[in-house]
Amino acid sequence: MNEPKVAQKAPFAVSVEKGKTYHWCACGLSPKQPFCSGAHKGTPFVPLAFTAEETKTVYLCGCKHTAKPPFCDGTHLKLK
Ligand code: FES
Repeated sequence: MNEPKVAQKAPFAVSVEKGKTYHWCACGLSPKQPFCSGAHKGTPFVPLAFTAEETKTVYLCGCKHTAKPPFCDGTHLKLK
């Protein structure tokens, strides 16, 4: 597995809480999208931990090809 799996070709809108740490799934295999489930074991991918700076809705990348992980940067629009 060299490329992450496209979990969905759209971001996941999630509510995050200020000061809380989240683990964004980078491999695309997690059944708990957009968060890590441990499914990356045995792949070269590891989840990305991030701490929310504010309590708000964020748009986490679902295609796993963003250049600005864990956030959607619009790359999903260019995927075939
Ligand atoms: Fe991956 Fe938008 S969902 S860049």
